Amino acid sequence: MKTLVLKVDPRRPSKEKICTAANLIKRGGLVAFPTETVYGLGADSLNAEAVSAIFKAKKRPLDNPPIVHVADVKTVRKLAVEVPARARRLMKRFWPGPLTLILKRSKNVPEVTVAGLDTIAIRMPRHDVALALIRRSECPISAPSANLSGKPSPTTAKHVLEDLDGRIDAVLDAGPTKIGVESTVLDLTADLPEILRPGGVSFESLKQILGEVRLSPFANAEKAVCVEKVRSPGIKHKHYAPDADVLIVEGELASKIRKINELVSLYRRRGKKVGVLCTDETKEYYEADLIKPLGSRKNLTAIAHNLFRLLREFDADKADVIIAEGLPTEGLGLAIMNRLRKAASFNIVRV
Ligand code: TXA
Ligand code: MG
Repeated sequence: MKTLVLKVDPRRPSKEKICTAANLIKRGGLVAFPTETVYGLGADSLNAEAVSAIFKAKKRPLDNPPIVHVADVKTVRKLAVEVPARARRLMKRFWPGPLTLILKRSKNVPEVTVAGLDTIAIRMPRHDVALALIRRSECPISAPSANLSGKPSPTTAKHVLEDLDGRIDAVLDAGPTKIGVESTVLDLTADLPEILRPGGVSFESLKQILGEVRLSPFANAEKAVCVEKVRSPGIKHKHYAPDADVLIVEGELASKIRKINELVSLYRRRGKKVGVLCTDETKEYYEADLIKPLGSRKNLTAIAHNLFRLLREFDADKADVIIAEGLPTEGLGLAIMNRLRKAASFNIVRV
């Protein structure tokens, strides 16, 4: 299959190109498109065959359902059996935006779309291209991140093509995504709302609206948790991992720098090509084969924006080992550390 690349302006996408993409979706095809978080790989949520094709293209385990993207609230009422008051409050405050709500699903939705669960993950993305595509396609669009399963999520169309060129019908290229980490996944089916995956909407801002919010033990991703009966299927699979081994050093800054340099020497003596994933403030302190700063420690927005791109760059540069500085877990920091800890398969050194 030849993958069509449709370049569009992120703010005023050409109607013609959106139509081309929407026609592919309507015919059961796969189209990657930008959202404010990462690029998604879209298919018609109500077409079981099309949704199955997403799993195939991504080599994604079948028990991990993608998020259903909508362009209006009215569609939510068709996908979910009930929309509780607190869901309506959250949609009003955060949609369009990086918040995914887990609700009880309606029977109209094909089994494969929800991987056989009795719940459904829904969000309205804050991106003109995504919204235009959904509207033109006249259906909700199921879209996981547009990467091969297990790889870092794509924040540019180039990343999408690195993983999926020839495996999907088209990609709408509207340049790099803004936020860089995925949406927050919030389960509203239990009594107490629970964050299953931290993301673009922070724990703190959800608490402001809801009062009480639980942070699932998986959300911190501090250690591998027993995964027998997890509520968010994505949790138990390998995630965000570059080819290189990733190691995180967490703790007080000066000790962290010392420890990282120690580890760099150790791995280099073993003949490994070693990269350090650091911050603007600390980059001068390291001696390694590759040194990549994520941005200023004071600017978690910039760090989130650069995270997946730099993980991919280390692979392109053939690093064997990536040693990453731990970061604070406030605000967006929780989502950043969640992705890093998973990329590291919980390989964390505390100093
Ligand atoms: O920002 C995002 O959320 C991006 C863009 C493309 O919208 N999408 C994304 O999708 O990250 P994906 O499929 O890579 O991640 C969806 C997450 C997975 O961890 C999955 O397990 C969880 O949502 N999920 C989906 N349906 C669920 C459900 N019914 N109950 C609990 N978790 C669910
Ligand atoms: Mg993903």
